[in-house]
Order: sequence, then C-alpha cells, then structure tokens
Amino acid sequence: MLKRSKKLSADLSTALVICVALVSAFIIAFNYYYRSQESWKRLERTAEDYTAYLGAALVFPVWNLNRKAVSELVQFHSINKEIVLLEITDTTRTINHRHSVANGYSSIIRKTAIKHQDHNIGEVVVGLSTRSYYQANRRLLINSIVMVIGIIVTIIAINGIILKRLLYKPFYTLQKRIDDISNGDYDNIQPNSGYRELDQICLKFEEMAARIKTREQHLKNTSTLLREEISDRKKAQEELKSNEQKLQNILDFAPPVIYLKDLHGKYIMGNKQFEHIYQVPRDQIAGLDDRQLHDGDTYRIIRAGDDRIIDTGTHIEVEEKIERNGKAKTYSTIKFPLKNTGGEIYAIGGISTDITVNRHLESQLRQAQKLEAIGTLASGVAHDFNNILQAISGYIELMLLQEKGRAVNKQPLNQMQSAIDRAADLIRRLLIFSRKSDVKLKLLDLNNTISHAMGLLERTLPKMIQIRKDFSACPATVYADPVQMEQVLMNMGVNAGDAMPDGGTLTIRTANVTLTEEFCRPRPETTPGDYVLIEIDDTGAGMDQDTLQRVFEPFFTTKGIGKGTGLGLATVYGIVKHLRGHISCNSRPGMGTNFKLYIPSISSAKNMAENENVCKRIPISKGNERILVVDDEETVREIAENALNKFGYTVTTAENGEQAIETYKGMRNAIDLVILDLGMPGMGGLKCLKALIDLYPQVKVLIASGYGQSDTISKSLEFGAAAFIKKPYHILDLGKIVRNLLDGTAGVCETDNLHLASKAS
Ligand SMILES: Nc1ncnc2c1ncn2[C@@H]1O[C@H](COP(=O)(O)OP(=O)(O)O)[C@@H](O)[C@H]1O
Ligand SMILES: [Mg+2]
Repeated sequence: MLKRSKKLSADLSTALVICVALVSAFIIAFNYYYRSQESWKRLERTAEDYTAYLGAALVFPVWNLNRKAVSELVQFHSINKEIVLLEITDTTRTINHRHSVANGYSSIIRKTAIKHQDHNIGEVVVGLSTRSYYQANRRLLINSIVMVIGIIVTIIAINGIILKRLLYKPFYTLQKRIDDISNGDYDNIQPNSGYRELDQICLKFEEMAARIKTREQHLKNTSTLLREEISDRKKAQEELKSNEQKLQNILDFAPPVIYLKDLHGKYIMGNKQFEHIYQVPRDQIAGLDDRQLHDGDTYRIIRAGDDRIIDTGTHIEVEEKIERNGKAKTYSTIKFPLKNTGGEIYAIGGISTDITVNRHLESQLRQAQKLEAIGTLASGVAHDFNNILQAISGYIELMLLQEKGRAVNKQPLNQMQSAIDRAADLIRRLLIFSRKSDVKLKLLDLNNTISHAMGLLERTLPKMIQIRKDFSACPATVYADPVQMEQVLMNMGVNAGDAMPDGGTLTIRTANVTLTEEFCRPRPETTPGDYVLIEIDDTGAGMDQDTLQRVFEPFFTTKGIGKGTGLGLATVYGIVKHLRGHISCNSRPGMGTNFKLYIPSISSAKNMAENENVCKRIPISKGNERILVVDDEETVREIAENALNKFGYTVTTAENGEQAIETYKGMRNAIDLVILDLGMPGMGGLKCLKALIDLYPQVKVLIASGYGQSDTISKSLEFGAAAFIKKPYHILDLGKIVRNLLDGTAGVCETDNLHLASKAS
C-alpha cells in the first residue's frame, strides 16, 4: 500500500502561489511605498507651493497692511479643505491672521517669509492636511491587495490549466506506460509527450522495459526449466515413492519374516510378518534387540550366527525354533551380509520361512511311508504264511478225510485246524492293514453299524466304563464293509477300555462333515469332500508322543505279552485307508485319547462302490474232469492234487506260468479247469492268465491267491478268470467252487474264512 503522500500538483500550486504572492506582494509593497513617497512629496511640494504662492500673493496686502484683502484671501483659501492651518503675520504684528481646522489627521506645516524687495515683511504658515494622502494610501493598499488576490486567483486558475497540460498529461502517459510495463505489456510504446525531460524519462522507461522484458523472458525460460525440473523431480519422487511402496508391499505380502539388523544385533526394520510374529508395532521395531525377543539360549544361537556372517562375510542357512504364545514354530532362515560399495558389511538381512507345516507334513509322510513299507513287508510275509498255512491246513484236512468213518481221536487234528484258523485270522488282519484283503462294500448307515458294535462293547467292557453315544441327526451313510466297520469300533472300544482300567467314559460321536481345501492342505492324505466323522473319545491314560507316533504300526503294543497283539489299530488304519478315509489321533498322558475317523460319505464314496454280490451256498459234489493246478509252492500243489483226487478229479500240475501254458497247449482238450496262483516267479499268474485266455478263449481259470484285495480280483476277472479263491482255502470250499465252475453255475460265495468270487458265466 502506498503511504498517503502529498500531491505534487498541490505542492507545485502552493509553491507557485506563494512565489507569485510574494513577488506581487513585493511589487505592490514597492509600488505602494514608492507611490506613497511620491504622494507625500507631492503633498510637501503642494504645501511649499502653496506657501510660496501665498507668500507672493500676500506681499502687497501685507505691505499695505490690508487686513481685508488678507482676510479675503485667507477666506478664499480656507475653502480648500486640505488647508487646515493658515497663519499670516507681519513683522509688525499688525496683521495676525490665523485659520485653523482640526480634521483628525496630521498636517504638513510650511512657512515662508513674505518679502518685499528682499525685506521680510511678514510670514505665512500653511498647514496642509495629510488626509488626502492617507486616504489615497488606503485606496492604494486596498487596490494592491485586491490586485494581489486577483493575481493569485488568476494564477491558480491558469496554474490548473497549465499543470494539466504540462504535468498531468505527461505524467498520465508515464503512468500508463508504467502500468503497461507492470502488466507485462512491454511493446506498447507511447507517443512522445513533447517534453524532452519526460521523453527522456520515457526513453529510460523503455530501456528499462526492454531490459525487464529480456530479464522476464530469461526468468520465464528459467521458470519453465525449473518447472520441468520440478515436475521431473516430482515424477521421480513419485516413482521412488511408488517403488518404495512396491518394495514395502513385496516385503509385507511375502509370507516369510523379513528383517534387517545392524552389526550389534539391533533391528533396523521388519516386515508385517515380523510385526505379527513378535507382536511389535512397526514403529517400535527399530532398536529392538534379539535379547528382547528371544530367551537366553535362542538369543545366543542367533547371535553366534550373526557373528559368523560378520566374520566370514557369507550367508548362512539355519533352522530356528521360535516359541511364541505357547506355540513352537520352526523357521528356515537365510541370513546374509549387506555390504557397502567398499565391500564392508554394514547390516545383516534375514528371511525366515515358517516350515512348521512342512516339518509336520514330512513327519506325516515319513509315518505314512513307514506304514506303507511295513504293509508291503507284512503282505509279503502274509502271502508266504498263507502258503505255509495252506499246506498245514490241507494236510490236516486230508488226514481228517482219510480218518472219516474211523473211530479215532480227531481232537488234536481239530485243535490244529482251529489254531491254523486263528493264524489265518492274524494273517487276514495283517492283510487288512496292508490293504491287500478283499472288501465287500455296502451302503451303510454308520449310526446303525456303530450302535450294533456298541451293543457288543457294552457286553465286553467292564461295567465301570460308561459308554455314551452322540450320533448325527441325519444318517451317516457310507460305502463300507459292515463287518470291518464293526471290527474298527470293537478294536478301538477295547483299546479305550484297556486305557481306563479304573473306569471312565467312552464317547462315540458321528457327524456329517465337509472337509475343505484348507483343512486338507496340511493333511496330504485327505481330499476335500463330504465325510462321516466318527470320534472315539476316552478319559483314559492317554499316550506319550513316542507311543502316539507308532500306534498304527502292526505289532506295536504297550500291553504285556499275550495281552496285546499290536494289530488292532493297524487293522483300523488299513480299513480306513482302504475306504480312502483319514484317521488321526490326539492324546496326552493322563488326558485321555481322541481318535477321529473320516470315512467318505455316500456322495464321495459312491464312485468307489462296488456292486454288492449275492452270497450263494454251493452244494459239494464230485467229478472226474482233468484239472491243471499251477503253483510255485510244492506243498500247495500236493494238497490241491490230493484234495481234488479225493473228489474224483484227475490233476496235472505246473510250477510256473510258462510251464502251465506249455502243459495246457499239449492237453488243451483234456484239461477242463486251471487253478492258477498269482504270486509266482517268472511271468507270474496274471500274465499267464492273460496269455491262456488270449490263446484259448474257452479256458476256465480259477485264481487261487493269498492276496485277496479287490483290485487283484477284479483285474483277474477282467482278464477272463472264471473265479477267485483266497488262500488259505478249505478243501471242501475248493471242491464246491471247482464243481460249480465245471457245471457253469458259479457265483460268489462267502464262508467263515474263505472268500470266493467268480463272475457269472
Ligand atoms: N485309547 C487308547 N488309550 C491309550 N493308549 C492306546 C489307546 N488305543 C491304543 N493305544 C495304544 O496303542 C497301542 C496299539 O494298539 P493296538 O494296535 O490296538 O494294539 P494292542 O491293543 O494289541 O496293544 C496300544 O498298545 C496302546 O499303547
Ligand atoms: Mg488293541
């Protein structure tokens, strides 16, 4: 804001007015003074002239002492108002005439001698009034003042016009130019004002405008450059910010814990996972120390690792166990040095990946592989055992047939037979564990099956054990073997009973559940879908970690000799696995045990369903046909031969597949049935079966094998086998099925310890 300043025009006008006023005042004063001096002198001269005139005029009257003439003269002159004193005296004082008038003004007195021939004869005194002088002076003064005022007013008026013409216009032009320049219009050059000084100022202004214009252009260019630079810098900053954000996002969304610490072990930064694991807000990470995050031992291990990196300058890979909120987690950590351009280490970076689940999965996998290996071993052993048992059982049966009708003590033989049956049952359970046994899947409501098993358990378990059930409201429908499912419940119920010698509660629950992708991810042996969950809970002794790790191993038992076989849970495991289910166990010493069994419910299981076969009792009858028995075990061949001979058949034997094909080729018209073992050296049973059927489609083959699992059965039936009998078989059952096959009426038969399947021919 401009300070309120004086107006130049006003000042100029004032100065001019003052100057003019002073000059005119001086001139008027001078004029006044001069004129008043003049008039004074004139007055004096008049007085002198008057005196001189009267002196001359009175010579004769006075000489003559003519008072009258003197008086008349005085009278005549006293008419003149200016004469305020008139004194005439003669030297003789004869004439002494005096005329005096007072008019308030001073007067100029002049006297002169009245001379007659150079002799003074009298004197005349004349007093002239100064009135006219003063009046004239006053008028002069008034006129002068009026004149001064007139001059001033005129000057003011003229001054306005002159100022406007001389000052305002050029100044306005100048001001307009300045306005133009300040508005950035440097080229609008105004015409000359007509005044050199102003034009010079204008010229200077134009020069200044040109310089300002150049400077402004320069400034503009600089500012454009600056603006571009600023925008570039802004862009770079935004890019940097976005990159920083991206980097932060990578760090935060990356699943591992990522951090940076200085060489003294103080953290510099950590990502979101770091915040989450250690429950530290981001702004408090900087400055933290491993001592504040870990216990003493863990701290020392971590510090030792950091020291190693600093010493060697290379990265290390370590497995760290970190316990947070009572949960132990395993991390695989890669720690590496961060070096400056000079190669000096200035920080340590770390990436820790949570491998707890991996470790758990690995242990589960190991467990599953172990069980799988044991299963393979068990099935191999069971196969050989079956052959041995087949031999013993066959000979005993032959002996019993020979002794038929004779009054001998058959007790030992019968006991031997029942011992063999028990051994066969053991083998069967082993085969169930290794999933090499035949299974009859049926549509079941597990609630019914379990209820039935619970009835058996109530009778079996001591009375101080309370059995509770909590079943699903809807039917728990699955495809399963009812006998096996009962076996599962019995085995687990008995185990629970054993774990509660002083009583307790056994709870069996069922529920229809859906296993989600999320649930299945850490349990590789499960697949998402609908399941029936069977939970078996007891309040017994529970198990320690080592026992828990081994519960499903066959022959693993913590019970005394003769009390436990260690096959109960192995069988359960085999059954559940066969149904593509999942079993898990949770237990702690003194805290009871919880088993969870997930069996695929009807929707999941129907794909696995097999047609339910009808059981038929086959009447035994003899025959006289020729049968080719193929088995690598000599005893098995012998028993089969003996037994079939007993039923009237003629038997030819072969030791392996190749021999069997040769024999059949030679006697194909004579051989009515082939009894073929599957597990043989050389080409093996299945290949032999396929070759026989390919060569001689009319051939009838009965498969006799220790492996009773359904896929072997279905495969051999698919290849064209007429029927399947599982070893060890009872001779009578063999007789029945052979007869049936020869008669072409074979179906499926199930006896106590013999499972026999055949396709309808
Ligand atoms: N409910 C349970 N409570 C405690 N321990 C159990 C339970 N079920 C099984 N076990 C443990 O698992 C082992 C194996 O069980 P199992 O396979 O049935 O064989 P067995 O019962 O013949 O010992 C048992 O010896 C026992 O140590
Ligand atoms: Mg048991």
